[in-house]
Amino acid sequence: EPDTPLKDVATTFRVGMATIVNRLNGTHDEIYKREYNQITAEWEMKMNIMYPEEGRYDFTLADQLVEYAQNNNMEIHGHALIWHAATPDWVVNFEGTDAEFSDMVEDYIKTTVTRYKGKVLSWDVVNEAIDDVGGNYRSSVFLDRMGEEYIAKCFQWAREADPDVLLFYNDYNLCWDRTKLNGVIDKVITNFKTNGIPLDGIGFQMHIGYNGPTKTKIAEHTKLITDEGLLMHYSELDVKINPDNDLTTPTEEREFIQKDKVREVVEVYNAIPESSKFALTIWGLKDDESWIPSVQGHDDWPLLYDNNFTIKKAHTGFLEGL
Ligand code: XIL
Repeated sequence: EPDTPLKDVATTFRVGMATIVNRLNGTHDEIYKREYNQITAEWEMKMNIMYPEEGRYDFTLADQLVEYAQNNNMEIHGHALIWHAATPDWVVNFEGTDAEFSDMVEDYIKTTVTRYKGKVLSWDVVNEAIDDVGGNYRSSVFLDRMGEEYIAKCFQWAREADPDVLLFYNDYNLCWDRTKLNGVIDKVITNFKTNGIPLDGIGFQMHIGYNGPTKTKIAEHTKLITDEGLLMHYSELDVKINPDNDLTTPTEEREFIQKDKVREVVEVYNAIPESSKFALTIWGLKDDESWIPSVQGHDDWPLLYDNNFTIKKAHTGFLEGL
């Protein structure tokens, strides 16, 4: 049946949804409860929201999301402690010394992880720290102030604050860009292993296109992670059908291709070893709520529901992949 809840069919991993506090009611709430068993905060658990001013944390919105998840028997995946694109200005322009900067980051990570200890299942500790050009360290205030070891330090501080929470490194294009994936393997996975730095899993964001990576490619890159014995999170799935901006409305033809792509992604995920299974998270409920048009600058319809909360072919593709 096309309206079978995703979480009822995905029995070996959780199905996640990215959302914001303003959408935890009405039809959203009904669909969330029916379909998903994990939630990611689309922006309320980023540094610019949780730590807006030096010395002043604000967990109001993050708390509301966590409470919603707890009330509805869903896990919360914390996203994301350190991300260059959600770093508050006061941190970018930090006035103290490098040592003071590092202490500030340590305090932020430990305060946040401690607050949600036992409530949040997992954290994206560092998001998008490897660049797209050569798989090098992405330039950021964290790299400038703390050096290359900043990534490892953040994971250590998170682990010190909560011995049980699962710690993820998350990034985009990893399911097809081998140079970038090699950067992550080299600078995060292998480096952490050599130096005894805690790491539980890797998030492949999975912002892909209908004409995007083949199933073979996605499977090959996924295997490089699962072979390391790490958890695998497909953390932000959406499938663009208009990346070249040649459509003004979605066409049936593209929607069929989108469906196939979603099915392939789910098939690959479903086939990984049980010990690496974690969750497959979709980055938004319905097309008009997707981040793609505003950030990537073209119309698109990349999600599993249309603007009227109606299930799309892509939703059926998800079910067929299981
Ligand atoms: C995006 C959200 O969807 C937007 O609502 C927000 O304005 C900016 O961030 N990679 C990530 C996510 O890791 O946090 C981003 O989410 C999308 C790209």
